Amino acid sequence: MGMPGLAFAALILAATASMASAALPVTFVFGDSLTEVGNNNHMQYSLAKSNYPWYGIDYAGGQATGRFTNGRTIGDIISEKLGISSPPPYLSLSQNDDAVLKGVNYASGGAGILNDTGLYFIQRLSFDDQINYFAKTKETIKTKIGEVAANKLCNEATYFIGIGSNDYVNNFLQPFLADGQVYTPDEFTELLLSTLEHQLSRLYQLGARKMVFHSLGPLGCIPSQRVKSRTGQCLKRVNQWILEFNSKVKNLMASLNGRLPNAKLIFADTYSVVLDLIENPSAYGFKVSNTSCCNVDSNIGGLCLPNTKLCNNRTEYVFWDAFHPSDAANAVLAEKLFSALSSAAPSAAPTIAPTASESV
Ligand SMILES: *[C@@H]1O[C@H](CO)[C@@H](O)[C@H](O)[C@H]1NC(C)=O
Ligand SMILES: *[C@@H]1O[C@H](CO)[C@@H](O)[C@H](O)[C@H]1NC(C)=O
Ligand SMILES: *[C@@H]1O[C@H](CO)[C@@H](O)[C@H](O)[C@H]1NC(C)=O
Repeated sequence: MGMPGLAFAALILAATASMASAALPVTFVFGDSLTEVGNNNHMQYSLAKSNYPWYGIDYAGGQATGRFTNGRTIGDIISEKLGISSPPPYLSLSQNDDAVLKGVNYASGGAGILNDTGLYFIQRLSFDDQINYFAKTKETIKTKIGEVAANKLCNEATYFIGIGSNDYVNNFLQPFLADGQVYTPDEFTELLLSTLEHQLSRLYQLGARKMVFHSLGPLGCIPSQRVKSRTGQCLKRVNQWILEFNSKVKNLMASLNGRLPNAKLIFADTYSVVLDLIENPSAYGFKVSNTSCCNVDSNIGGLCLPNTKLCNNRTEYVFWDAFHPSDAANAVLAEKLFSALSSAAPSAAPTIAPTASESV
């Protein structure tokens, strides 16, 4: 299912990397806590923050950065492989910052496709907010290098998008919120899809052409959902909804590719990659995939707060907290995604590799 998309992605990344002999690839990242690198720390009232121990304990420097894991996100690791530094959080940049020319990360913990997803976090950047900030970024780029060059930069950049998990976990699946009462699962998925269609079209209008959409993972198997089953099993019903959502997104992207000239939307099948790691942890050197390293599966928020006791060996756990993979798991997932890219399109590998080794 995912391989044709990945092969396509390989070609895109190879093209991006070969242009990089003159300039390094530019990436713009949109998403939620799985890809956030610190935007929420810049919002005073946001409750979706991870800027305390033990977050970042395995990151360079050992300090919390706003990443929702003990180390690197998948995006950080893919950036390493592309030979670029992981793009900085949008809200950390000064007005007119030259850094925008190299790429920006708009991802925000708690965010969803829908504006009201994660509303109990008070502040977070919804996908619409993130796109609005990208529009501002484009204006900044124009003032720096002129309209023609700005359009070219935006057309040639790669856009990584990973959003939708919170629309389920922090909206539809929350019994005290309206959406789970108002909509049937099918109606809710349709609402997400029609909203996403507008959002991707808007990004296209703003100049995005190469967009990689990461499918949602098997959310029924994350520790915070497993604890809802008496036996600690994956929630099949939730996984079924996610598979339904993913397959509709895939169709949507095919349809947009047909309608929007030069659009190259790519569906990256994260679901199967994550499920394989959860079902076969020992094949990847892990011991535990059904509970979190911090043992916070049933805690409100499910975060690894300073008063929680860490597992003895963080590299043995697929999950760091009740929602997010560990650094070790992210390394495996990024490697799998990236090597699928390279082997699916062998000519891509040499193009990417020298670029990476030159600049790391
Ligand atoms: C969501 O919020 C953004 C502003 O952040 C706004 O532009 C958009 O129209 C809103 N969407 C809906 C469906 O209310
Ligand atoms: C995880 O799986 C192991 C066996 O593989 C089992 O002993 C343990 O109880 C499970 N933990 C949870 C939280 O379900
Ligand atoms: C942690 O676990 C990994 C994988 O099982 C193992 O290779 C490593 O030696 C362990 N580290 C410690 C400090 O026990």
